[in-house]
Amino acid sequence: MAEQLVVHNDVSKEQRYQELLPQLEALVAGESDFIANLSNILAALKTTFNWLWVGVYLVKENELVLGPFQGPIACTRIGYGRGVCGTSWEQKEVLLVPDVDAFPGHIACSSASRSEIVLPVINTSGEVTLVLDIDSDKLNDFDETDKKYLMKIVELINKL
Ligand code: SME
Repeated sequence: MAEQLVVHNDVSKEQRYQELLPQLEALVAGESDFIANLSNILAALKTTFNWLWVGVYLVKENELVLGPFQGPIACTRIGYGRGVCGTSWEQKEVLLVPDVDAFPGHIACSSASRSEIVLPVINTSGEVTLVLDIDSDKLNDFDETDKKYLMKIVELINKL
């Protein structure tokens, strides 16, 4: 396992994702524990992009329960169809929220959060097993480039 990530700061966001992805694959190769690998992927995302909050909510029975994350403490349980995370779970869709204040029902775990992207992880039976949630303290911080590459990271998480 690599001990540190090498991702350049002075390149485009797309290039940073392209540098990061193979390193994430290497990071999880050789370790079979789901939580260990997931935690390292989240830490790598947080340190690379310096977002406010990077974490997951795991589907447990009828709600989402906080899993591994990096950032400020967060709400622990989110209902089906509630907030951005519960809506992503319900719709089985990636939700890109440029302004969290404009999203009806947004759950403010941190008052510093301004924009958010949530991606569902869907297993081979078509069920959502967890959602990847990323918050930024900047408005409109996520775009189609983030969606494209975070979907690849979701694929990686799905194979852990
Ligand atoms: N904002 C999310 C809640 C989770 S926190 O952002 C960590 C939502 O509306 O579902």
